[in-house]
Amino acid sequence: KKVVLAYSGGLDTSVILKWLQEEYGCEVVTFTADIGQGEELEPARAKAQAAGVKEIYIDDLREEFVSDFVFPMFRANTLYEGAYLLGTSIARPLIAKRLIEIAAETGADAISHGATGKGNDQVRFELGAYALNPEIKIIAPWREWDLLSREKLMAYAESRGIAVEMKRDGTKSPYSMDANLLHISYEGYDLEDPWVEPGSDMWRWSVAPEQAPDEPTTIEIAFEQGDPVAIDGQRLSPAELLAELNRIGGANGIGRADIVENRYVGMKSRGCYETPGGTILLKAHRAIESLTLDREAAHLKDELMPRYASLVYNGYWFAPERKMMQAAIDQTQQVVNGEVRLKLYKGNVMVVGRKSETNSLFDASIATFEEDAGAYDQADATGFIRLNALRLRVAGRKRG
Ligand code: ARG
Ligand code: SIN
Repeated sequence: KKVVLAYSGGLDTSVILKWLQEEYGCEVVTFTADIGQGEELEPARAKAQAAGVKEIYIDDLREEFVSDFVFPMFRANTLYEGAYLLGTSIARPLIAKRLIEIAAETGADAISHGATGKGNDQVRFELGAYALNPEIKIIAPWREWDLLSREKLMAYAESRGIAVEMKRDGTKSPYSMDANLLHISYEGYDLEDPWVEPGSDMWRWSVAPEQAPDEPTTIEIAFEQGDPVAIDGQRLSPAELLAELNRIGGANGIGRADIVENRYVGMKSRGCYETPGGTILLKAHRAIESLTLDREAAHLKDELMPRYASLVYNGYWFAPERKMMQAAIDQTQQVVNGEVRLKLYKGNVMVVGRKSETNSLFDASIATFEEDAGAYDQADATGFIRLNALRLRVAGRKRG
């Protein structure tokens, strides 16, 4: 039969391609996506051709990734376990969606991916795929084969004539990495001891905060219905905007995170992440919401957020409960319009101004410490406090 493989052209997925051909004797369709990982994709085409693949898909998914996955997630101010901006998690459902679409187009009955049997990614790919096509067959080579060590994998590659080449810059990173327009992640190697600080040469997207410029960079981000649309008055597409924030943020040492997280499959795992643009966006989005959202709507959003974050982390993007929460979140965003001014300085993102011509709920004439226009009568506060204190006083009297 036929299987669609999520194929990067790297060593692991090249071995998987060969293994699928040998072990399953099936025709393989390769799918390689540009989601902003910053690697050239044409080498993947040549390698797939050399391996005898006839149907080769190479898609630029950068705009779809940011507008249909990253931005909706940022409307919820999503953070997993208080620290992780979900850069890898949010890309997986898009890959799953394309795998299923390509399977339909090519008449394939199965899909395959290179995620290990120990991680979150296998769960995300497969929950996504099953949600979109309940009949799809899934082949997860890492859970089936015995090439479980690096040496065995290399030996298999060499015996089949698969090139084991270096990265573009000539260095093969010892880390397990994953990059897209939202982030780059590092796991494994010396990070497996949570006490060990990673070497300064691990980080690829940002300068160290102590090496960042001594002058702050000031930027203004404009929002429309909760999504960022312009930087310093210049309108940009979603992917362009995020790439630009990554550049400015990285230059100011913004967005590094070093965390121990709970994987869905049960174990704790230590990971380092660079999410410069996302770190700026989260701060900026909260700032524009602070001016435009009703208090109770904002607080309810904040209560839902950890649930929403777990859904994304655990792979439930296409599940009814995620869509339900998304609808509620999106509904609040109609009024989230305006601009935020931020200072970026040595790893810090500081909000220094926010405004909304159309939707600001901030009323200086009410909040002022000076005499106000009459919307708020200070005498009303006496009864407000007295009634709210009633139960506290009753209980206090009982205590004696
Ligand atoms: N721990 C992060 C997550 O679960 C990053 C996973 C990185 N994936 C990878 N294939 N290197 O979202
Ligand atoms: C993997 O196991 O493929 C990467 C790590 C993860 O998915 O959590």
